[in-house]
Amino acid sequence: MEKMTVRDIAVSDRRALVRVDFNVPIDEKTGKITDDSRIRASLPTIKYLLEQGAKVILMSHLGRPKGKVVEELRMTGVARRLAEILGRPVKTTVDCIGPEAEAAVAAMKVGDILLLENLRFHNEEEAGDDTFARSLARLGDVFVNDAFGTSHRAHASIAGIPKYLPAVSGFLLENEVATLGRILENPEHPFAALLGGAKVSDKVAMIENILSKVDALFIGGGMAATFLKAQAYEVGQSLVEEDRLATAARLIEGAMAKKVHLHLPVDVVVADEVSAKAKTQTVSVGKIPKDKKIVDIGPQTIKAFEDELRGCRTVFWNGPMGIYEIPKFAAGTRAMAQLLAGLKAATIIGGGSTAEVVNAMKLTDKMTFISTGGGASLEFLSGEKLPGVEALLDKSPQVFRRRG
Ligand code: 3PG
Repeated sequence: MEKMTVRDIAVSDRRALVRVDFNVPIDEKTGKITDDSRIRASLPTIKYLLEQGAKVILMSHLGRPKGKVVEELRMTGVARRLAEILGRPVKTTVDCIGPEAEAAVAAMKVGDILLLENLRFHNEEEAGDDTFARSLARLGDVFVNDAFGTSHRAHASIAGIPKYLPAVSGFLLENEVATLGRILENPEHPFAALLGGAKVSDKVAMIENILSKVDALFIGGGMAATFLKAQAYEVGQSLVEEDRLATAARLIEGAMAKKVHLHLPVDVVVADEVSAKAKTQTVSVGKIPKDKKIVDIGPQTIKAFEDELRGCRTVFWNGPMGIYEIPKFAAGTRAMAQLLAGLKAATIIGGGSTAEVVNAMKLTDKMTFISTGGGASLEFLSGEKLPGVEALLDKSPQVFRRRG
């Protein structure tokens, strides 16, 4: 069912309570935001609400403070960056609920922007607590969800507030659902999924759901070790999810049964330790030394992946091909980013660290779509219904009743 958006609701002179996902990466040493694309991704919604004469109250989580106030995870730095980008002031509060937040909202004029303090300083946020949701809902007249990246979580600010306020999607959320929905329903073929990252367990449901839709599946990154071991290869000291070996074997069989071209690495870069000083060597997957671990895909694998990806019309990529944070283990990830940037295909990047790599390599504009949600995009492509989307008003006419 299609959901209502900010276009479908009157916001002039009203308090628009907007859930954004400003969970941006921050450099531990300097405290600086290293990638502000999640902030920029919500600008269309924020600007639209301002143009329509709303008072804009933004709220987000930052990191995983687990119900405690963590000074480094206050929203002040994010507010500063947003203010710089918008060229107008963004006020903050010291708590996201309570008298101070309510007074700050009461003092707002049309066109003002307020960013509430980190929602996850309260345990009640992740617990989906109803009283907490109601305290947040008191701060707005309408609720806008623009936090696609958190919409797979049934948290109070995501799935709770819509019980108390008319709830619609922002442009970012609308765009994510439409783009990822198109991949599931009507992708241009050949359609390939390029998957990496550490764990098979994170991606099983998604792989199972897309096996009947893709023409080719490429597996790299840490998770490739589990697939290789499931095929009885020696993988040395590589991290293997022993409890997922049977799952990996089942996925390999599933791909073969569905005639999906499954590409596993044919060669890999191995290292004696995960550090910039590590000694590395490239070996075929049949010759991985017992005392080494896989840290990247090798050059022959890169070439084999490139050869088939070049002919694809749709590519979904989630997960780095190696431990890309260490430059000498980043060749596979960088090669895939460069290749996708030059393809004449719809290239969809599945958020998280993959999006960070693409942004850091300044290839953002060369991709068709970069999702702001790592976990959320995987859950969406698993065919799961996202609580944050389900909670929004349907496009069909309906009566909204206030509860509580
Ligand atoms: C993300 O970064 O994927 C979202 O902001 C959700 O964060 P979480 O995984 O801590 O819930």
